[in-house]
Amino acid sequence: MGLLLVSASIRLTKNSTPLTFDEAFSRLYGDQNLMFLDEPGNCVQISLDEHNGSGFKSQKPYLYSLFSASIKLPANNYTAGVVVTFYTSNNEALGDSHDELDFEFLGHAGGTNWVLQTNVYGNGSVSRGREERYDLNWFDPMEDFHRYSILWTENWIVFYVDDVAIREVKRVDGMGGDYPSKPMNLYATIWDGSGWATQGGKYKVNYTYGPFSAQYSDLVINGCSISMDPTHQQQPYCLDAPRFVTDFNGLMPEEIQKMRDLRTKYMTYSYCHSPSRYPTPLPECTIHP
Ligand SMILES: *[C@@H]1O[C@H](CO)[C@@H](O)[C@H](O)[C@H]1NC(C)=O
Ligand SMILES: *[C@@H]1O[C@H](CO)[C@@H](O)[C@H](O)[C@H]1NC(C)=O
Ligand SMILES: *[C@@H]1O[C@H](CO)[C@@H](O)[C@H](O)[C@H]1NC(C)=O
Ligand SMILES: *[C@@H]1O[C@H](CO)[C@@H](O)[C@H](O)[C@H]1NC(C)=O
Repeated sequence: MGLLLVSASIRLTKNSTPLTFDEAFSRLYGDQNLMFLDEPGNCVQISLDEHNGSGFKSQKPYLYSLFSASIKLPANNYTAGVVVTFYTSNNEALGDSHDELDFEFLGHAGGTNWVLQTNVYGNGSVSRGREERYDLNWFDPMEDFHRYSILWTENWIVFYVDDVAIREVKRVDGMGGDYPSKPMNLYATIWDGSGWATQGGKYKVNYTYGPFSAQYSDLVINGCSISMDPTHQQQPYCLDAPRFVTDFNGLMPEEIQKMRDLRTKYMTYSYCHSPSRYPTPLPECTIHP
């Protein structure tokens, strides 16, 4: 059934009516750097200039969902230090015990590729980063929109690029609270990460090349939105949990094969293969060695 369910999840994204900004999102910071590129507010542009970055977030938190957006990255010739994100988090609500699932796009110092980083935190596991990085050059991420999706279920996390899985995390007992399991909001931001983003901070943002603008369209959230209605006493209360989120049971062999091929070609770092950092790999690393 796995294949059907995975395909169903992807089909559902494709067939879902994208959310307009006003129905599901609100501004986060850098208001003057957020603009709509179309009337219904389906396509949102956020920019980083010498004054500010910008960002937006979902109005509601969600527990186990598929989050998806088509994103076009800044096409400037030099984007070192620039960080563009698409992620889920409950940091604002929970701080030290927060959960997070990240796509982070890290700029380049001219003539090279954007780097894509994915990461997972659960219950404040910030001292156990689960970063992976990939050279994002199997297409040109600045030329066109490409779809980036996070599937988060009770037992699996999958990061997809253009509906191809690039990373799968299975919840194993050893992860304990490190597996994200509390409602999260969806975020999209652009900010100055000069201190670390490009070659560990060697190359910094140079605003001579700015402003830097990222565009998001076809925003889709398919999952379980949480009612903050006090009558539910803050207990997670699913308004609409789609079946694929509850039934998903991992990728099918063909999908895993595609994922492996892609990782072999483009992955440049994985916390699962970082003995200096983790002499004993973290527990979930045994699933896809
Ligand atoms: C950036 O935006 C935030 C929130 O909109 C604002 O408080 C801050 O003053 C801005 N920073 C600058 C340098 O304009
Ligand atoms: C990038 O550099 C090329 C060659 O130097 C130049 O022609 C082009 O205008 C630049 N593009 C931007 C967006 O600055
Ligand atoms: C999450 O962290 C808090 C402390 O911040 C701890 O009390 C709690 O037991 C942890 N939950 C899990 C599931 O590990
Ligand atoms: C920013 O780029 C411009 C144009 O290439 C260059 O003249 C300037 O020195 C750069 N600034 C910094 C701080 O590197």
